[in-house]
Amino acid sequence: MKNSCLPLLGTDYVEFYVGNAKQAAHFYQSAFGFQPLAFAGLETGLKDRVSYVLRQDKITFVLTSSLVPNSDIAAHHQKHGDGVKVIALWVDNASSVYQEAVARGARSYQTPQILKDENGEVVTAGVYTYGETVHLFIERKNYRGTFLPGFIEWNPTYKPENTGLLFVDHIVGNVGWGEMDQVAEYYRTVFGFDQLISFDDKDISTEYTALKSKVMANDNFWVKFPINEPAKGLKKSQIEEFLDFYVGPGPQHVAMATDDISHTITALRSRGVEFLDVPDSYYNTITSRVGTIEENLDEMKKLRILIDRDDEGYLLQLFTKPVQDRPTFFFEIIQRKGAKSFGKGNFKALFESIEIEQSKRGTL
Ligand code: FE2
Repeated sequence: MKNSCLPLLGTDYVEFYVGNAKQAAHFYQSAFGFQPLAFAGLETGLKDRVSYVLRQDKITFVLTSSLVPNSDIAAHHQKHGDGVKVIALWVDNASSVYQEAVARGARSYQTPQILKDENGEVVTAGVYTYGETVHLFIERKNYRGTFLPGFIEWNPTYKPENTGLLFVDHIVGNVGWGEMDQVAEYYRTVFGFDQLISFDDKDISTEYTALKSKVMANDNFWVKFPINEPAKGLKKSQIEEFLDFYVGPGPQHVAMATDDISHTITALRSRGVEFLDVPDSYYNTITSRVGTIEENLDEMKKLRILIDRDDEGYLLQLFTKPVQDRPTFFFEIIQRKGAKSFGKGNFKALFESIEIEQSKRGTL
């Protein structure tokens, strides 16, 4: 019972439930350079909700808001605030993947449905994962339209340039105390995922990081879901803070890949995207930690880009601040130079450099 019965072709789209889809869409266009793609709402015959679809290379986001006070979307938004509801997975046969997933113990969210329009048909079906988060399976091999049946083309004149974001590298889920193993097991039994051996779940639960993590991946590594749970540390875990404000488990960050991180971070910063602060002292030890890199270190320091190395290479990454009012969901920008890991070394290096700054201020 390996992956062959549950083949995943990649991430199809990520759907956010938000308070104001129209304004959120403008943010993803202006700040991140996503391009307008499709729309569904009152104008397409929907009565209770609206969705804007945006795309940048292989990354597709759907922003959905409720138009009525009493709906699943409204209830979800009231409880969780803006956040990811659906991580849609691209499959060859949605019905068989759904049936297999349910047979292996997944809780059903939506039985297979055929959506049709003049461009063909799409089959969707879905199961729950951690919290109220959902995986929808999308079978689109018989569809030639822009996005999904029911959506019309959205083609405004306002189209800020893209920022070089290419594809979803991984999507991290935060789950409650002691739930990580159970969720990792869910991905193993239901989806046939394996734990990536390059990532050791034991050693990042240090006093510094205050979190545990297991990275679950499918057989072709196109779909990677690290699962975090809080751990006891010196301070309140950032995972705990997420769980408090999201009111339960949910997607913590989507990592988006670029092949030119200097360009991407420069563009994002100039458009007002806010990133986590990285102290100067982080770069004092960088060469001893990661060795030589192809990029100009001064430029990495100027842009506050983080660097980490594993056995296979290195990676460059940076994390945004939360992108909504609650301190919950954020983005990661990542460029891989051979490394297949997730920047574990940066947890400790970042924390230590913050401590150095703190001790300078006498507040440690
Ligand atoms: Fe990440």
